[in-house]
Amino acid sequence: MSFYRDTWAEVDLDAIVYNVQQIKKLHPNKKIFAVVKANGYGHGDVEVSRVALLAGVTNLAVSGLDEALGLRKAGIEAPILVLGMTRLKDVSIAAQYNIALTAHDECWISKLVELPLETPVKVHLKIDSGMHRLGLTTKEKVKETFELLKAAPKVELEGVFTHMATADCDADYLEYQIKTFESLIEDLDLSSIKYVHIENTATLLQREFEFDHAIRLGLGLYGINPDAKFIPLEFDLKPALKLYSKITQVKRINKGDKVGYGATYTAENDEWIGVVPIGYADGWIRAHQGRNVIVEGKECEIIGRVCMDQLMIRLPHEVEMGTMVTLIGDGMPVERVADEIGTISYEILCMLSDRVPRVYKQNGKITTIRKMRFDHGDPS
Ligand SMILES: Cc1ncc(COP(=O)(O)O)c(C=O)c1O
Repeated sequence: MSFYRDTWAEVDLDAIVYNVQQIKKLHPNKKIFAVVKANGYGHGDVEVSRVALLAGVTNLAVSGLDEALGLRKAGIEAPILVLGMTRLKDVSIAAQYNIALTAHDECWISKLVELPLETPVKVHLKIDSGMHRLGLTTKEKVKETFELLKAAPKVELEGVFTHMATADCDADYLEYQIKTFESLIEDLDLSSIKYVHIENTATLLQREFEFDHAIRLGLGLYGINPDAKFIPLEFDLKPALKLYSKITQVKRINKGDKVGYGATYTAENDEWIGVVPIGYADGWIRAHQGRNVIVEGKECEIIGRVCMDQLMIRLPHEVEMGTMVTLIGDGMPVERVADEIGTISYEILCMLSDRVPRVYKQNGKITTIRKMRFDHGDPS
């Protein structure tokens, strides 16, 4: 397969393997749920899942049932947990495809146990220990729903979990959540529960708990520390994704010339500029105006407004048409990109749209190219 516009994300599958190995060294006795929601944080859920499972990950976690079914349709048979809410009318589909669901609310749970399911459904009880997103908040409700789920003939309660809100920024609140979780579960008989899990990347990079059996590895799987200042590491992770483009036109503009929609940039000198075929429809949003990309090892500013499909950069000198541009990669880590537009690496990666082909590499060779937007069959 090929693609016909020179903008692509390169995903290093060896980096995914390396990151799994690093985390396994840190938590040798824990099962690892690879969090591959949002198309594997923009990296490609199917390819990342396959390679992570080979590297020793045991389970997958996604946000919704559609994502889980997508993985099943791609032939992935590993256990999958849906972390978000699933509509009760869709529970039978989850059961049919052996997809575990999050039991997040007492009303939802009371209706779930009444469903006339043909196949039992696996569930993980979600406890809200202080983030106040999904989950049960009081000891009474936790106990009541836990017993209800355990007694239900068509439900297999295999997990109990919670999610930490501040492991990358507030150690005191993290402690508070851990204590709250311990207190909320203290009356439960967890002996038959296969997975108690609480740790996301920021938590698992800093803490080790005796009472949980599994960790949920999201951003770390992709080689990124949620906050390197807050969580200094003694080992490295390898970022798996790089974003590249190639210059489609090089031109000389004169001092005083304007660039782009709204003519927001005025050349201060006679300048060389390049047109780069990436824009906000690819996830490279207008906030990147004024930031830099890398061309031939040098930083070049994005000048004028970012368009839907293209942007312009100021070049230090004339370069060849087709010269490579690095938007994320060596010299331009995603953490810096995120920081400079006031967001987080998660958002930059998830924003990369399905118009950007993903090129997968292993052992230095291209193994697959995935063009999600354009996979409608071969026109020939
Ligand atoms: C419930 C839950 N668990 C785990 C994760 C993974 O988090 P991280 O990417 O920080 O490891 C997420 C991601 O947002 C999540 O929502």
